[in-house]
Parts: sequence; C-alpha cells; structure tokens
Amino acid sequence: MSALESFACEPGALDLVWRDGSRSRLIAPWLRDHCQGAECRDPRSGQRLVDVAELPEDTRIVRAERLPDGELAVHFAPDGHRSVFGEDWLHANAFREEAGREDVDPNAAAARRPRLWDAATFAREGLVWTPWSEYLEDPSAKRRALAAVRDHGFALLSGVPPREGAVLEVARSFGFVRETNYGALFDVRAVIDPSNLAFTNLGLGPHTDNPYRDPVPTLQLLHCLENTAAGGESVLVDGFRVAERLREQAPDDFALLASQPVDFAYRDGRSAELRARFPLIELGAEGEPRAIRYNNRSIAPLRMPAERMERFYRAYRRLSRALDTPEGRLVFKMGPGDLVLFDNVRVLHARTRIESGGRRHLQGAYADRDGLLSTLRLLEAPGAAPGGQP
Ligand SMILES: [Fe+2]
Repeated sequence: MSALESFACEPGALDLVWRDGSRSRLIAPWLRDHCQGAECRDPRSGQRLVDVAELPEDTRIVRAERLPDGELAVHFAPDGHRSVFGEDWLHANAFREEAGREDVDPNAAAARRPRLWDAATFAREGLVWTPWSEYLEDPSAKRRALAAVRDHGFALLSGVPPREGAVLEVARSFGFVRETNYGALFDVRAVIDPSNLAFTNLGLGPHTDNPYRDPVPTLQLLHCLENTAAGGESVLVDGFRVAERLREQAPDDFALLASQPVDFAYRDGRSAELRARFPLIELGAEGEPRAIRYNNRSIAPLRMPAERMERFYRAYRRLSRALDTPEGRLVFKMGPGDLVLFDNVRVLHARTRIESGGRRHLQGAYADRDGLLSTLRLLEAPGAAPGGQP
C-alpha cells in the first residue's frame, strides 16, 4: 500500500499528506529538478543529466494525477515536461514538516551525532576487540567494527597477523590506503632517532596526525608487531567530547579556537614541504565539531595581533589541558596482532613513556572515512549481507 494518503496541487507547490499523518510541501522547482525520467536521469546510475540552470525560472505545476501503480504524474509549464514519481520514492526523499530534521540519511545523521565518550564509558561498557578472523568471515562482526569507528571514532581488532604490511590488508578491507610522502605505511619503533619524536622512547601527548595536510587523512591504523617494552601503552582521547565540554564551560575560548586559523607545517628538507592553515577546532555548517587538528610538534610560528594572541594562548592552554586528563584518557596496552583503527580528526592518540628493556614496533597507515562509511552503508543495507542486520 502506498504511503500517500492524499495530495493537492497549486502552481507553486504540491502538498502531500502521508498515511502516518505527516505532510510534505514540495515546490515546483524541486519537483522539476528531481524528475526521475529517462531524459533527466541516467537510467543506470540514477545520476542527474539536467543542470539546474537549464530549468525555466518560472517553472510551475499545471496539474498532477495519480497513476495505477503507486505513481504520481506531474505536468509542468512552461516547458510542458511531465515527470512520474514513485509515491514510495517521494515518501523516502521528501522533507517532512513534522520531522524537524532535514536529514533523512541515517548514516549521515549518526555521523553528525557522535556518541561522545570518556574513560568511564568503557570501564562500564568494556572495550570490544574484534578478532580479525571473525571480521573476515562474519559480515555482522565487520559491520559492528566499522560502525564503532563511525559512532565512537575508533575500533579495536585482535589477531591481525603480526607481519610487515598486514596493516595495509586491514585498510583495504574497508576502503583505500592513503599513500603519503611517508609511503603506503610507516614504522613507529622504540629506538632513538631524533628526526621525529614518535621514534624516540619519550611519552607522546595526545595529538592528531598530519594536520599540515589538506585534506588531512581522516583515518589512521596502528598495528602492533612487537611490544615487549614496559610502558608504551596506547592512549585515545575523544576530541569531540573535549570540544563540546569546552563549548559549555568556556564559550569564548571555544569560539576563538574554532575561528582562528593556525598554520601547520612539515618539512624534511628533501622531499616534503607541507603546509595547511585551519583552526584547531573546525566546525561544520551546523556548528558541530567537524575536525580537531592538534599537534604541537607541527604548529608553525603563530602570527596574530598581540591582544588576540593573549586570548589565543589562554584558550590554547585550556584546550591542551582538557585534552590530557585522566578522565578523558582511554589507556590500553597493545600486543602483537592488535590493531587500532581510528578517526584521525576526532580521536587523539598518545603513548605513555617506554621504560627501558624492551622493544616496541608498530606499523601505521592512513585511509579515509568515505571508503569506510560506504562499506558500512552496504553492510547495513537490508538484505545486503547475510546476518548483516540485528
Ligand atoms: Fe601520531
């Protein structure tokens, strides 16, 4: 049975009443632009073939009629075009006045409403490690792991064979490796090499990687091949939670950090001269945190008027302290075969100090969220994967 109860039309708009009592008002240009006919859409991909600039400015509705098979035909002036819409298609895609949300894509909605966490969240819920063999064999295990990246900003895998390059197989299981000037993968070893602090045995404070890139890699994978060291534990911090608390507790500091761009830079003197300019907290169009870029090793000289610099340092110091608190730090030790996959513009990562007398070797790689979210949507589509729905 069609979801459509009744409709009424006037030249400017079509008013639809749905069986559940909700309503949609679809204006004439929207209907003309969303025509599903073969002249207007590629029949295979469904991609639009008509540019909005080609539509007449005075597009209006002449009449509309219901067809037998749950379809609605709309006739337009002045171009005489006729569009046929499936009523179910309209129900799925039209904005409903009562819903109060413009967003009907559940994945996009979830991505915009992250489940904020701190250390206590996982003390209660427990940390979930997905065995790699299960991830490979059971689509629902894979779906849960990828959904954790979307919702919590990270997922943990165990039993990934501790051999060189295995991290790339994991990245390719849901998306595409982001190759950079460091190569397809990079090694993080506990040996003294002063060219990069990540390669020494010092602790490393919470940071996001590569803020000097535009676009910045949105996912990072770290795979443990060896860890006999005492210390050298892994730390994750939910940067979005920290940002939201800052917004509540110090709105002026939050506003400054979200609006003042800073320069990030990386150069190795040979093959790379990377720069990007972004605020430490980047907001989306609806004011939601969209990306955290925080890495004091790669902030270039800060330049702004002295008065603003005073305020900036106050806010910057407050953010820095808020990012590194015992309540916010999720701490766990990685052993051979463990892998952490995380959202590099939401979740900050850190490492506790490595004590003497052991070795620690991780291999890392970058990837991007688009591939992961696409794979997740396919796994979540009803009937797409056996056992793919709870
Ligand atoms: Fe890092």
